[in-house]
Amino acid sequence: MEPISNTNQEIVDSGNTKKPETTKAFKFNPFDLEFHTNPYPAYHRLRSYDPIHRHFFGSWGLTRYADVKAVLRDPRFRSDNLPQRLNDKNQYLKHQNQNLNALVRATNTWLLSLEPPDHTRLRKLVGQAFSPSVVERLRPQTQDIVDQLIGTVQKTGRMDIISDLARPVPVRVISTLLGIPEDIQDQVYQWANDLSGILDPFNSLETLVYMNQIIQKFSNCFRELIAEREKQPQSDLISSLIVARDEGDRLSNDELLTVCMLLFATGEETTVNLIGNGMLALLRHPAQMELLKQEPTMIASAVEELLRYDSPIQRIARIALEDVEIDGHKIAAGEQVILYLGAANRDPAQFPDCDRLLLNRSDNNHLSFADGIHYCLGAALARVEGQIAINTLLQRLPDLQLQTNTLEWRKNIALRGLKALPVTFRT
Ligand code: HEM
Repeated sequence: MEPISNTNQEIVDSGNTKKPETTKAFKFNPFDLEFHTNPYPAYHRLRSYDPIHRHFFGSWGLTRYADVKAVLRDPRFRSDNLPQRLNDKNQYLKHQNQNLNALVRATNTWLLSLEPPDHTRLRKLVGQAFSPSVVERLRPQTQDIVDQLIGTVQKTGRMDIISDLARPVPVRVISTLLGIPEDIQDQVYQWANDLSGILDPFNSLETLVYMNQIIQKFSNCFRELIAEREKQPQSDLISSLIVARDEGDRLSNDELLTVCMLLFATGEETTVNLIGNGMLALLRHPAQMELLKQEPTMIASAVEELLRYDSPIQRIARIALEDVEIDGHKIAAGEQVILYLGAANRDPAQFPDCDRLLLNRSDNNHLSFADGIHYCLGAALARVEGQIAINTLLQRLPDLQLQTNTLEWRKNIALRGLKALPVTFRT
């Protein structure tokens, strides 16, 4: 059996942390560099001693699997009100002759901010493009993209898994789905990347103003594409969304634009992190990596375990619509609750041997794609991309070895992902 920990400062705390002398002795600070590098020991401490935690900056933080899942399914909570927060900042910026108008307008109509009935209508329309059967049809194209990318580094004996594979894969796959021409894919990728931190609640005003400019450029580009598809429909998602817009006003122009941008903003960095964090976990657990290499058909359950073990999205937020009591704590209407998905996924009450990577784990009902009405729309697509990228790396590159002990994580409070993952292999 593999050790819980290995030499690379891996996680050793499995929920049995020694109790602090007083609960006050344990101060949880999600902005700590130590927490950012490895959040799991702090999650375990929080879950054991203060599972309904009041952050020093006001909001609540939940770390138990059962609590996080219950809130995700509870209609007394709505999704985090990003447009409202942006609007408040917009009012302030107007006095300085700046604005976030494009950002407010876009986030007002994106799925993540909507509630029923608008959410139900839009989700049904876009959801058709992401059904497992449609996504399965993208498998051959995804395999081609991965093969081509690995082919370009195969003779060199080294690669950065993030920049050489994990980054280009999702942007090319979503571009294929939407019908984005090849010559603008790099530009679109750059915009998507610049917008990937949009859900970070601590973005500076400067960053938001920059994102506002990106949204304007993104919108202009998609307006042109939509106009082209109106004249000459193709067999891509933009063309089918145009049909939906024109048939009985089911989709507004703004919504059509936002859907296209949102797919890039939500489906890009998250998938990069699935491939990056997943490969890091395998490299740190060579016996598990070997098992998968010998039995590639295990890949579906392996990807679920990699998603659970080091979740690409560590936290999401909800707002209480009325007073709600959780385990004796009163969450007042209007208060924000942070749901630590990464902590829920390591809850020993839900996952036996929670800190152990077990690629054939059964009953792996993790929350990496959330739950409830906002359950990730792109889950099937992300799974296919992760499965193909990871299996192909293992099958085509023998003797994969991590080339560094000092890994740097991207500075994003909600998304957990590496800046680079350098490896070597035999040619
Ligand atoms: C491993 C990769 C991914 C992870 C871990 C992930 C995770 C999540 C999570 C946790 C949510 C819920 C957010 C909330 O409730 O606040 C979500 C929603 C969403 N995701 Fe993903 N995602 C991934 C990939 C993708 C991809 C590839 C796409 C599309 C191309 C996508 C599109 C969306 C959309 C549109 C929503 C909003 C759904 C709604 O509000 O109804 N995601 N995702």
